[in-house]
Amino acid sequence: MRIFVAIAAILVGTCAKQLDIPTRCCFPKVWEGMMATVQIDSSGMKSSMLSVSYDFSVDRFALQDVDMKYRIVVDYSKMIQYVITSEGLCTASKVPNKELNCIPGSIFPNVSDNATFVGSVVYGGPGGMVLDKWSYKVHYPPVTAVITVTRDGCVYISEVGAGTFGGVPFYRSDEFSNITYAIKDPTVFNVPSPPCPSDQDNNLVLTRRQTSVFTGL
Ligand SMILES: *[C@@H]1O[C@H](CO)[C@@H](O)[C@H](O)[C@H]1NC(C)=O
Ligand SMILES: *[C@@H]1O[C@H](CO)[C@@H](O)[C@H](O)[C@H]1NC(C)=O
Ligand SMILES: *[C@@H]1O[C@H](CO)[C@@H](O)[C@H](O)[C@H]1NC(C)=O
Repeated sequence: MRIFVAIAAILVGTCAKQLDIPTRCCFPKVWEGMMATVQIDSSGMKSSMLSVSYDFSVDRFALQDVDMKYRIVVDYSKMIQYVITSEGLCTASKVPNKELNCIPGSIFPNVSDNATFVGSVVYGGPGGMVLDKWSYKVHYPPVTAVITVTRDGCVYISEVGAGTFGGVPFYRSDEFSNITYAIKDPTVFNVPSPPCPSDQDNNLVLTRRQTSVFTGL
């Protein structure tokens, strides 16, 4: 009897939680910050620290590694990404996916899997930050990703994807920090003129980079 009551209490608790699913929020339209990435795949482990800038009004996303060895500018209006090295080498290639501005849901006709609400957590102690976690399947590479955003303002905190890709374990995490809502230096979005040559090894670039749900890279 006591067990039954306990189970009933758990069920009620679970139901109450289900009702508390937050809305599928949309990320800020202009932001920049730091992105720490770790990826483990068949070629081993890579980690990098990048500064990222995103401006919805110009439909561009820019990343620069903190050592200034290279930068990447994605022009989503043309679905082209430019990789520009500090030595002046530049390659252009197509990006396969539009960036996602919101938690995937019915408003994205091209995302076949709706995100499933995983739950909410608080980072830090009392007075800490309330975060919502959403999970969904990425088609390529075929991994399950969990996106974490702040409840207040839908700020993109992290994205972690894990699964098996080409028969080997695949793991990638992107963690964002120090976010601000303005672009300090708009030249981060500049691309070379005349445009740099297109990448002959296009497919390789795509398979390597299309691992972030948010950026489509
Ligand atoms: C996604 O959610 C929308 C609205 O809730 C629903 O109409 C649609 O069938 C869902 N799609 C999938 C693949 O579950
Ligand atoms: C959905 O996919 C189709 C074909 O792949 C493409 O033409 C269309 O622009 C996409 N829509 C969005 C909103 O990305
Ligand atoms: C992030 O913010 C903290 C606190 O303002 C600052 O000390 C730190 O230098 C910033 N880091 C970067 C990489 O901008």
